[in-house]
Amino acid sequence: MVSATDRPSGYSPTQITLHWIIAALIVVQFVAHDGMEHAWDAFEDGAAVAAGDMPMAYLHIACGLAVLVLAIARVWLRLTRGAPPLPANESAVVRIAAHGVHGVLYLLIFLVPLSGAAAWFLGLGPAGEVHQALKTVLLLVVAVHVLGALVQQFVFKSGVLTRMFRPAA
Ligand code: HEM
Ligand code: HEM
Repeated sequence: MVSATDRPSGYSPTQITLHWIIAALIVVQFVAHDGMEHAWDAFEDGAAVAAGDMPMAYLHIACGLAVLVLAIARVWLRLTRGAPPLPANESAVVRIAAHGVHGVLYLLIFLVPLSGAAAWFLGLGPAGEVHQALKTVLLLVVAVHVLGALVQQFVFKSGVLTRMFRPAA
């Protein structure tokens, strides 16, 4: 665990890469979920899954499980290397809100794929419902996160967006 006095001045190249790969995978999940939805509907109706839906359903599973594995790597790095403190020129309210949103995002990049996996691999209908509900929560929290990042960058001019692109020690 990194102590509060020993925090890095920026994110590492790996942390930055993981952040953007996970974000990209989540975009894929929201853009290309039709095949998985059809496959799941067929499963719930006890019908055969149309062959044409399987490739996209597999893509959904592969990208979703990739999010889960990368999330583990990300939390590991967060605990061992740490993250830079939020800019000191931002108010305490902004910093608390940002930390809260980040915490919820960390939780969701575990719970969303895990609920999907429980539905698909264990055939649990209620897990499918949880997955559906959580994906909406994820969408909303990501929207708040992106809006917050843009306001911090362009209104408060605290450079947070820059540091999620430019690695530092
Ligand atoms: C971060 C990862 C994931 C995201 C963002 C995500 C997102 C989504 C979205 C947007 C839908 C469409 C829901 C709807 O409107 O009906 C969906 C459905 C589904 N996903 Fe995922 N998913 C993820 C991971 C996974 C994984 C890893 C699996 C399985 C191994 C999975 C299995 C399913 C199933 C079975 C459905 C159909 C459930 C239903 O519609 O009730 N998902 N997912
Ligand atoms: C779509 C899924 C996304 C997830 C799950 C996600 C998750 C996270 C998490 C958990 C952190 C905290 C990192 C830490 O300090 O440990 C973070 C930081 C950050 N995210 Fe995202 N993010 C996503 C998308 C985006 C997008 C699209 C943007 C662009 C506007 C963005 C901009 C940022 C910035 C600028 C930071 C750094 C904040 C700082 O320096 O303190 N994120 N993200």
